[in-house]
Amino acid sequence: MEPAVKTVQKSAAQTSPTQSYISGAGMYVPDKVVPNSYFESYLDTSDEWIRERTGIRERRWTEFGTGASVLAEPAARKAIAAAGLSVADIDGIVVATVTPDCTFPSTACFLQSRLGMTRGFAFDLNAVCSGFIYALVTADALIAAGRAKHLLVVGVDIFSHLVDRNDRSTCVLFGDGAGAVVLSSTKLLPAAAGAGLNGTRAAGSSHVEARGIIATEIHSDGSQSEILCVANGSAKPLTPERIAAGDHLVKMAGREVFKQAVRALAAVSESVLNSAGVTVADLDYYVSHQANKRILLAVGKQLEIPEEKVLINVDKYGNTSAASLPILIAESAENGTLKKGDLIMLSAFGGGVTWGAILLRW
Ligand code: ACO
Repeated sequence: MEPAVKTVQKSAAQTSPTQSYISGAGMYVPDKVVPNSYFESYLDTSDEWIRERTGIRERRWTEFGTGASVLAEPAARKAIAAAGLSVADIDGIVVATVTPDCTFPSTACFLQSRLGMTRGFAFDLNAVCSGFIYALVTADALIAAGRAKHLLVVGVDIFSHLVDRNDRSTCVLFGDGAGAVVLSSTKLLPAAAGAGLNGTRAAGSSHVEARGIIATEIHSDGSQSEILCVANGSAKPLTPERIAAGDHLVKMAGREVFKQAVRALAAVSESVLNSAGVTVADLDYYVSHQANKRILLAVGKQLEIPEEKVLINVDKYGNTSAASLPILIAESAENGTLKKGDLIMLSAFGGGVTWGAILLRW
């Protein structure tokens, strides 16, 4: 698949000598565990099918009517504490979500209020399961441009409200949760500076050794919007007929999404490695959106990444959409898997279709 948005490399001269790094991470999932056996009780499915085809054993679901900002708040507070900061230090909030508290204001504004944050800015962005990658790339660009020192970047989604619980091909896949990181600025030697929305800071330079984001790429292909969507909105306002047709719920061509995801994730990961001047062998961990264990293993196989370097927690949480990456990052930081100095590739693919990857040193 040809990316709709081509990579743009920025030269060191175009941006300030500032690098961003993840200074803290936190996660939150609801208490309610929904095991595969729950679906066996009313659908023509089995624990064995779900485990073998997806790797998922259980997921967490919120109570119906819970707002995304309710899940985001504890994740955000943990991330800020892990960074050794307080709410007053945060210059802005970027929330990736497709299940906002309401149409407007943004979930980021609700979160700002919940945190008692009295300054800065807050906005949401929508790139579905790639949302956290898009949010981190946006926050990195704001920091590189000197617009902020510490940004709270959140991925939160509540797909249990969005799936048709009688559609066995989608309802078993998704879980609810929130993850957050604080992205902080650090000064770099001028020789190593210069990344943008899509690009890398001086390939092969000392930058690759320094802690923080090294290279990023984001892409989309809007011609594929129908393979994964929730159709209602301004173009399709909800009517009783549309509700009966399930236009307010997730529709997915699963096999097509699977194929495109594997192809795009492998290609973008290779491209980011190349632009940073490093190889798969240099990677300590591949940290990819948790949609399906078979997607993760297929991408790992294509890239020739050893299985033990592909981090997986989809078995416990299912696909939490924009939350899956920050949940995996926070969990892996907390349990000591990620160690200072590790070279990590983040990647995601989702509705739009959208995809992207980020290379960073932890
Ligand atoms: N239990 C039992 N059978 C099922 C279930 C289920 N829960 N779901 C589907 N099936 C059936 C289908 O009805 C079909 O039956 P049929 O042959 O009689 O028609 C059969 O299993 C095979 O269906 P496929 O869709 O071809 O099954 P596949 O092996 O591709 O697995 C799945 C389906 C798990 C949805 C897979 O395609 C997938 O994971 N796709 C990616 C979807 C995804 O992750 N989307 C999330 C957003 S995008 C992203 O995050 C990357």
